Amino acid sequence: MARNFLFLLGSTRAGGNTETLARQAAEQLPAGDTARWLTLTDFELPAFRDLSHTDQRDLAAPTGNAATLLDATLDATDLVIASPLYWYSVSTPVKHYLDHWAGWLRTPGLDFRQRMAGRTLWGVTVLAGSDLSTADPLVGTLRNSAAYLGLGWGGVLLGSAVQPGEIAQDTEAVARAKTFFGGTPLRAAPGSATPA
Ligand SMILES: Cc1cc2nc3c(=O)[nH]c(=O)nc-3n(C[C@H](O)[C@H](O)[C@H](O)COP(=O)(O)O)c2cc1C
Repeated sequence: MARNFLFLLGSTRAGGNTETLARQAAEQLPAGDTARWLTLTDFELPAFRDLSHTDQRDLAAPTGNAATLLDATLDATDLVIASPLYWYSVSTPVKHYLDHWAGWLRTPGLDFRQRMAGRTLWGVTVLAGSDLSTADPLVGTLRNSAAYLGLGWGGVLLGSAVQPGEIAQDTEAVARAKTFFGGTPLRAAPGSATPA
């Protein structure tokens, strides 16, 4: 079945290594699959407020950039978080986007959890160091978030680079990119962790 990929670019600089690696992986998508690219810094979200245990549980439907990101998210069968490694985890724009999931989960009538179930979450990240295991917190954030929402888990494509363009020298990452989206996602049962 054809897949509709949404690539959410989470770097805070243009033309970074994470985007380059994600685009190399996307070049291998089979004919019929579609790819949409959104740069999160182009769609700044309002400050997130946790209203879950206040009188204001009737959250308003998202508007503006939040609505754009929500609609794009719901349109995708496959969601790719392309985040550079920032302090061992996802970048600020990605974390902010994920925080808004908590609001969308509570927005009346949205049925965010039910509508997201069965889609697949993937990750792409580039880090400056050579020890890829330092990205374990990022991998855990994405994998656990996928399980929490009942999403399939495609895994994380990892690379190492510092200067923009340097990812081309990470030949192992470039080789992994060629087959990354051909992998079979894990179908996890909804997780027991309850962050929201
Ligand atoms: C705020 C910030 C935090 C970072 N934290 C880490 C880190 O924890 N570990 C690491 O290896 N590299 C870290 N880096 C380096 C970036 O992951 C690296 O430069 C990467 O190539 C940036 O991806 P980009 O080119 O897609 O923006 C950090 C960079 C920034 C700007």
